[in-house]
Amino acid sequence: MTGPEDGYRPSPRSRTIGTTVEQDPARDTVPAGSRVTGVHVHTVRDLRGRIAAHLVGRDRELDLLLAAVAAGRDVLLEGPPGTSKSTLLHAITGEWGIPLVFVEGNADLTPTRLVGHHNPARVLREDYTAENFVPGPLVEAMRTGGFLYVEEFNRAPEDTINTLLTAMAERRITVPRVGVVEARPTFRVVASMNPYDNIGTTRLSTSVYDRLCRLAIDYQDDAAERDIVDRRTGVASHRLVADAVAITRATRERDDIRQGSSVRGAIDLALVAAQLAAIRGVALPDEPSVEPPRGLPEDYTAVVLDALLLALSGRIFLDETLEATPETVLEQIWEDHFLLRPAAADPG
Ligand SMILES: Nc1ncnc2c1ncn2[C@@H]1O[C@H](COP(=O)(O)OP(=O)(O)O)[C@@H](O)[C@H]1O
Ligand SMILES: [Mg+2]
Repeated sequence: MTGPEDGYRPSPRSRTIGTTVEQDPARDTVPAGSRVTGVHVHTVRDLRGRIAAHLVGRDRELDLLLAAVAAGRDVLLEGPPGTSKSTLLHAITGEWGIPLVFVEGNADLTPTRLVGHHNPARVLREDYTAENFVPGPLVEAMRTGGFLYVEEFNRAPEDTINTLLTAMAERRITVPRVGVVEARPTFRVVASMNPYDNIGTTRLSTSVYDRLCRLAIDYQDDAAERDIVDRRTGVASHRLVADAVAITRATRERDDIRQGSSVRGAIDLALVAAQLAAIRGVALPDEPSVEPPRGLPEDYTAVVLDALLLALSGRIFLDETLEATPETVLEQIWEDHFLLRPAAADPG
C-alpha cells in the first residue's frame, strides 16, 4: 500500500522538512502570521528543487500541486492514466518524508475497508478493543500524517466518498469501539480520476468538487516522453525510443480510438522490441534522424510491429460503433509511421 514505485528514492534530508509547511489541522485557514514567512517560502522552494530532480518536465504541475498541499489543501488530480500523477506524489511525499498511502477507488471500497475493521478472531477471544482494530488506509494515513491517494476516486461508492469528505473537513474521525482518530498535520487527501472514464463511475456532486482544489493533467510533449522512455528503459537505440514514442502518441490522435495509450505503452514497446531484436539477432539502428523507410531495415520495422501489437493492443480502446480491431488499427499506425509519413517518424 505504501512504498516506492518507479525507481524513486527520497533524498536523506527529506525528514527535516516535515513540520515546515504544516498548519493547524482543525482549522480551515492557516493562522495569520505563519502563512508566508521567509523560512517557509525558502523551505518549500528548496523542497521543490529536490522533487523536480525525480521528474521529467512537469514544472508547472509540480509548482501547483506542491503549492496546494503546502497550503494544507486536499486535491483532485484529473487526467488520463500514465500522466505522472503517481510519480509526482511519490516524489513529493518521498522528499517531504511522509508516507504515501495508496487505495484504489472501486465498488468494493466500502467505508469499512477505507477506515478499518476489528480482527474477527481476536474479537471472539478478547471482545472489541482498540488493539484488535486493523486500520484501513484512511486511518493509516491520518495517524502517520501521510497522503491518502485515492485513485479512480469517482468509482468509489457514495458513502465512502462521504466518509472521506468528513475526514477532510474535520481532520479527525470517530471509529466505533476505537475512539477519535486525529489526523497529523501533514495528512492530505489526493484523489484522482480519468476524465475520459464514464463506465461504472459516480458523477461527483458539486458538494464534492466544492471541497477540493483541482489540477488537470494531460500528456507531455514528445521530447519529454522520449526522455521518460530513455530514463525508464535504458534502451540504447535512440531510433527505437523515438519510434516507440511516435507510434504510441499516434494512438491518441485517431478518431477511431476512444482512448489511446499513455507513455507506459511506449516504455513497454521499447523494452519488448529491444528483447525481441536480441532474440531474433536483429541490430537496432541508433541514428535517430535517419529518414524512414530508407535507412531502416525491414527486419527492424518487423520487430517494432510485433512488439507494438504486444505492447499496445490491450491498451487502446476503440470506438465501439466501428468494426475495426485493435490489431488492424495498430497495423495502420505502423504503416503510416514507417511507410507513409517519414517526416512524422523523425524525432529531430
Ligand atoms: N514526468 C515524468 N517523469 C518521469 N517519469 C514519468 C513521468 N511521467 C510518467 N513517468 C513514468 O511513466 C509511467 C507512468 O507514470 P505514472 O506517474 O505512474 O502515471 P499515473 O499515475 O498518472 O497513471 C511510470 O513508469 C513513470 O515512471
Ligand atoms: Mg498512478
